[in-house]
Amino acid sequence: MAKILILLNLLLQSLITFSVLDPKKFDKLIIWYFSGTGNASQVARWIIEYAESKNIKTQLINIAKHEQSTNIEITKKTIIGFCYPTHGFNAPPIILKFITRFPRAVHGNKFFVLNTRAGMKISKLFAPGLSGLALLLPALMMIIKGYKLFGYRSIDLPSNWISIHPGLKEKVVFSIFVRCKRITLNFSRKILSGKKIFRGLWELPVDLAISPVSMGYYFFGRFMLSKTFIATNACNQCWICVENCPVNAIKIIDDKPYWTYRCESCMQCMNNCKQRAIETPHGLVIPIWWFALSILPLIILKFISNYTNAENLTKGLIYYILYIILSFSLVFGSYKIVHKLMKFKFFNKIIKYTSLTTYRFWRRYKAPKNVNKT
Ligand SMILES: Cc1cc2nc3c(=O)[nH]c(=O)nc-3n(C[C@H](O)[C@H](O)[C@H](O)COP(=O)(O)O)c2cc1C
Repeated sequence: MAKILILLNLLLQSLITFSVLDPKKFDKLIIWYFSGTGNASQVARWIIEYAESKNIKTQLINIAKHEQSTNIEITKKTIIGFCYPTHGFNAPPIILKFITRFPRAVHGNKFFVLNTRAGMKISKLFAPGLSGLALLLPALMMIIKGYKLFGYRSIDLPSNWISIHPGLKEKVVFSIFVRCKRITLNFSRKILSGKKIFRGLWELPVDLAISPVSMGYYFFGRFMLSKTFIATNACNQCWICVENCPVNAIKIIDDKPYWTYRCESCMQCMNNCKQRAIETPHGLVIPIWWFALSILPLIILKFISNYTNAENLTKGLIYYILYIILSFSLVFGSYKIVHKLMKFKFFNKIIKYTSLTTYRFWRRYKAPKNVNKT
């Protein structure tokens, strides 16, 4: 009797495994990705490699070079994925624009969204980043287009935001990567065998609570951040930054790279520069931002209440419009002036040595390549 029970149990288990983990649920996987420093592209490649090991056809498409990718066929059994970093508690604008133009569903295909976030490691604990609207918005946009949400998850790879903190140490980066590779393979195994994964939904209350910040970043903050990159005299005009910018945001003005408002602060330029010539000029940005965000609103309020009788204007739309116009003009104007002044050696030195990013302890960040060997 006991033997029969064991046999039945084994049969049941293999049936469950077969039905849940049927590797032929999909016959094609297409992933569109965007990546600044390699985290999101690495996650996309892990999933693609897993799919190929299960004989699923794959296509991996870099959104930044989308013009070159023709011949995309979405069949009934194709699963679609989007991998991208989180920028300002949101998906990068390039992703949102891409999904806006994405064709409506013909076969009602299944899709997943996967954002990489700012993972950290504090002592032995892995700390997660925060998604905000980074998963929610693209997922809703795809649902509206008729696709079926099948996967919704974040992967906490190392933070690449080296304008605000030094790049993580190599050892820490490596251990975060090893952990994330395991998580991604688990995700791939489940999703490609037909199991839905909505891990990211647990964080929905927090994500919604910080959504005003996501909006602020999207409509305001990202333009301010685009003006926080400067090239010092160390620049040897190799133009790697200009040629590789995924959103073509860097122009050449006066023989130096100049960051336009198209910049998405993906950090590729800064981390790729062999001369370490690209800095975040903290000595300049901090006082200007402090002025724009704390003194400027007070000056505007005083101005409005002195020269108009309309008290309600001080808290109304006009106040905010003036505030936005003036703070943008201040940040953009000062950036232009500083770019011109950088040709003077003395000024260059001041900017360089008041930039924290200049110092060796302020490491750069790029996703490691050799973690594949683990
Ligand atoms: C400008 C900027 C904003 C960021 N905002 C967030 C954020 O809101 N939440 C988060 O968890 N990580 C944030 N990060 C960290 C990146 O999303 C994270 O490091 C990501 O894995 C980088 O992926 P990539 O190498 O593919 O570009 C931000 C990074 C940058 C450069």
